[in-house]
Amino acid sequence: MKDIVITTQFSVFESFSELPINIQNLMELAIEVRKNAYAPYSKFKVGAALLLDNGKIVLGSNQENAAYPSGLCAERVAIFQAGSIYPDAKILKMVITAASDNNQTSSPIPPCGSCRQSIAEYEIKQKTPIAIYFIGETGVVYKSDSIKNLLPFMFNNKFL
Ligand code: THU
Repeated sequence: MKDIVITTQFSVFESFSELPINIQNLMELAIEVRKNAYAPYSKFKVGAALLLDNGKIVLGSNQENAAYPSGLCAERVAIFQAGSIYPDAKILKMVITAASDNNQTSSPIPPCGSCRQSIAEYEIKQKTPIAIYFIGETGVVYKSDSIKNLLPFMFNNKFL
């Protein structure tokens, strides 16, 4: 028997102003689009902003449904939209922000498991990593250079 150890790494930005300017701009757009979340059930609003290699920015917010599983997370609204409109573009950056109407989220809110799997699919498809920045409503910002840090030992198309 032997153990396999997988290490994973994140960068921590102590404040908004520590972020590169292009990421600050994306973060502002993500905060803005977060307000468009349709979240009458959870009251938890998420905004996502993508920067593509063609210079386009694609946004998404979570969209809920009375039949709960029929809703979709902000991250997947954004990446599926990017894949639909710009199928050949690469996603360079993804910025995510979340805020609850019930309590203040002051620690970074990472993407859920299903979103990680979906982001991984696009990273594999485009053969280049996607930098992911995530934050709550306030507080520090976490950055991962690739989805691999958030989804180590992922299921992927090589297993099919
Ligand atoms: N949500 C997202 O938009 N992204 C995530 O990664 C986690 C959860 C949404 C789904 C649902 O509308 C609400 O947040 C509460 O789970």
